[in-house]
Amino acid sequence: MKPCSRFVLILIVACATPPDFALGQPKEVPAGVEYERSLPSRYEHVIADMLKFCEPAKGFWVDLGAGKGQVAIPMIETTGNPMTMVDPDAEAMSDGLKTAREKGLQDRLSAVVATAEALPFPDNSVDLLVSRGSIFFWQDPAKGLREVYRVLRPGCRAFIGGGAGSGYPQDATAALIEGRKKRLEGDQGEFWREFVERRRPEQMQKWGEDAGLPKFEVLGRGALSADDERVGQGVWILFEKQPEIITRKAEDNVTAKRNGDTLVYAVRSASGIGSATLTPWNGWSQKVVLRLYLRGLESLTVSNGHVELHGSVASHSGYPRRLSVKQGDRESAVEQDTAYWAKIAAYDAQGNLVEGLPSDGGYFEVDLPAALFELPPKSLTVHWIDFYRQ
Ligand SMILES: C[S@@+](CC[C@H](N)C(=O)[O-])C[C@H]1O[C@@H](n2cnc3c(N)ncnc32)[C@H](O)[C@@H]1O
Repeated sequence: MKPCSRFVLILIVACATPPDFALGQPKEVPAGVEYERSLPSRYEHVIADMLKFCEPAKGFWVDLGAGKGQVAIPMIETTGNPMTMVDPDAEAMSDGLKTAREKGLQDRLSAVVATAEALPFPDNSVDLLVSRGSIFFWQDPAKGLREVYRVLRPGCRAFIGGGAGSGYPQDATAALIEGRKKRLEGDQGEFWREFVERRRPEQMQKWGEDAGLPKFEVLGRGALSADDERVGQGVWILFEKQPEIITRKAEDNVTAKRNGDTLVYAVRSASGIGSATLTPWNGWSQKVVLRLYLRGLESLTVSNGHVELHGSVASHSGYPRRLSVKQGDRESAVEQDTAYWAKIAAYDAQGNLVEGLPSDGGYFEVDLPAALFELPPKSLTVHWIDFYRQ
């Protein structure tokens, strides 16, 4: 195959925006931009922040509003992971693809013509989404952020905004901010005031709230400040897709928390009887633990759609645990040290291991067997019954 035929430029014409997509961008290069181009490059520092805040797993990585691949290309050079650029400007991305070919990176860079507001990717498919210098031009930033949240895989993060990066040299940062302040007074002052306005942390906060993001953080103090040492000059929004958890009863509460490479689902159930569907957090590769804040466990069922694991803890002396596994119509007891064996432990409210049943505020912990995740299920269904209520 010839190298250039390996370029992937997917033209999704239906998703391209009308010519006024670059809201707030004047037709000519505004004065002041050339001056900023004379300063040291910011991209390596921005990429370092992106990787630090997102801790991405290898996979499907997107640079949104990628332009000529100014972020995407050095990101590939730094990490080796392929990147997909998304931008309504096909011409800019073609330049990026050309640069990638010149650098011998043609196998790792692809481009999709689309906007943030209509991302042509399935739900829960993106392992990292970064975007620099683009959200300020989106027609509907809140809609764009909602789209980003939709396509992120649970447990994966987005880092979107603009700035020079926390490692950008201090003298260059000072020169950048000084230049920006000056241009507010010049001929194109009105344009630059809008530029500064759109890069305020309060504006970013509002876009995040309007998007309905369940949890996010705004970093940086805006275009004219480097007071936030986490990111230096600029403003960014950082968020992580939460795993979807559906409980059958509204009053039941199930949360997910990642602790190192262990994923803990914590179940709190008002009546002691309930069920929930759990989706994975960045895959099922970690150890998965169910923590059930119950007093007794007459029955626990965990199903991956093919196999049902049944467990119970008797409420009489010795508190024996029973485990069985059901595949189709066949049910068999699970012995210790076999594939479906799951440890069921009881703890008090302080997290100390106890004999028998959990005391008030305590919980059961079930280490789910790796065999349940061999063919990675899309979700797990969990049913629990605790008759031991006071
Ligand atoms: C200033 S450039 C940033 C390019 C590059 N990311 C960088 O950091 O140098 C802004 C980019 O956002 C793109 N853009 C404008 N509206 C957009 C939208 N609604 N969705 C995605 N990208 C958009 C523009 O086409 C442009 O390439």
